[in-house]
Amino acid sequence: MSERRAQIAVIDDKRSMRAMLETVLSLTYDVRTFADPREALLALEREPADVVVTDFRLPGLDGLEVLARLRRSAPETPVIVMTAYGTVEQAVRAMREGAFDYIAKPFEPEEMALAIGRALEHRRLQRRASALEREVAGSRGRGELVGSSPAMQRVRALIERVGPLDVTVLVTGRTGTGKELVARALHAASPRREAPFVVVHCAAMPRELLESELFGHVRGAFSGAGAARRGLVGEAQGGTLFLDDVNYLDLDLQAKVNRLVQEREVRPVGGDRWRRVDVRIVAAANVDLLEAVRQGRFREDLYYRLQVVEIALPPLSERPEDIPELVRHFADKHGRRLGRPAVSIEPEALGALAQRSWPGNVRELENAVERALILGDGARLDRAAFALGRAAAPASGGEAIELPYALPYAEAMERVQQQAAARYLRRLLERTAGNVSEAARLAGMARQSLHRLLRRAGIDAVDFRRADTGAAADDR
Ligand SMILES: Nc1ncnc2c1ncn2[C@@H]1O[C@H](COP(=O)(O)OP(=O)(O)OP(=O)(O)O)[C@@H](O)[C@H]1O
Ligand SMILES: [Mg+2]
Repeated sequence: MSERRAQIAVIDDKRSMRAMLETVLSLTYDVRTFADPREALLALEREPADVVVTDFRLPGLDGLEVLARLRRSAPETPVIVMTAYGTVEQAVRAMREGAFDYIAKPFEPEEMALAIGRALEHRRLQRRASALEREVAGSRGRGELVGSSPAMQRVRALIERVGPLDVTVLVTGRTGTGKELVARALHAASPRREAPFVVVHCAAMPRELLESELFGHVRGAFSGAGAARRGLVGEAQGGTLFLDDVNYLDLDLQAKVNRLVQEREVRPVGGDRWRRVDVRIVAAANVDLLEAVRQGRFREDLYYRLQVVEIALPPLSERPEDIPELVRHFADKHGRRLGRPAVSIEPEALGALAQRSWPGNVRELENAVERALILGDGARLDRAAFALGRAAAPASGGEAIELPYALPYAEAMERVQQQAAARYLRRLLERTAGNVSEAARLAGMARQSLHRLLRRAGIDAVDFRRADTGAAADDR
């Protein structure tokens, strides 16, 4: 990862001050200077700086106003205000308005250099804290990769080998096989691990929104676009950008993502300039991308750029030897959370679990363990706790909704709703033989929303396809 020079913006109407600061600071930083505060605000909205140094008294728009506007458009950017000698009142007002620091004129260049150093350090720590927060927020998908099957050993070896490099990686596998977990592991194994890991859910929103979500937009780029936005690529600066469900990008956005992958350049919506970014890219797909290329739905050049290294996660049914280990892992993980540590699992139950087909893969297994912990009440999980007594057919028909009376009301209702939703979705797919587009039409919702619901329920449409309809029945 190349060390980026910090960007400093200086706003002062006096030429001599601009020249002095530029000379001193450009030894260490990239410096932009502005005489006109309005021009500065426009430029900073297009391309934010890491630290802004501004005079207190400026023509047209004074330093306080500049400060207020910057706090609104770029709240993370520290601002240092230069105040006139002997005016304590100016300094107080600047600090009250949210300046990071002030410096009374005249000052020695070293004083300014020190203040900027402090501001940059503050910014670095702040970014680190928000990266950590984000990680904690996403911690359900975090943690170690469990499984000692040869396939998982290969996956771990690949992560160790390519994680530390800046190469682009494509992670493939059915729903719930652990693609996001692998992406996070790649990030954690890289020198970027302290910087943000940013997830882009390519399937989650309409194209127009996705573009500005990804690349940001300039102020007023479209109606409703008030202040400028940096975009997820910008937020991932220095870190890893995870393009989840990359196959959902439409062809037009694929072209823009292609440029991002190739040139590491982005242009915000409504903007006229390309900006360089430093991100490592990891993408995930739950379909055969090469097939999508053949069908003209995915750009070939982008495919080859993403797939410099491919990590393919096999379905859980192809590595049943991982199941006992995973069950124990999830029993520990959720047992601790649910205040039921040290539950043991009956070997017979483990054996039966290993024989199931798990269309929702590891996610479905994890849900099953969590549910068994909640519903069972002994210190030992047996076949009954996993509802293995009944035939383990694809749940449909008239099975009763379970009433988890041991849970608080709200949580219990949420669970009941989840179960009902899963049943509805399975019926829908049975009826349409796994054709998601058709199912979405019947359900009266967008295909992408249905995909999201299916994923949450750990249901894979592929498992509902009948042999004679072929796998190409749906364009998923
Ligand atoms: N090998 C594994 N070890 C431990 N936990 C795992 C493993 N694989 C998956 N999981 C867990 O299973 C759940 C689903 O994994 P993940 O979200 O990474 O799947 P995914 O492939 O991204 O699925 P989707 O395509 O539906 O988004 C997560 O809670 C994850 O922590
Ligand atoms: Mg995922």
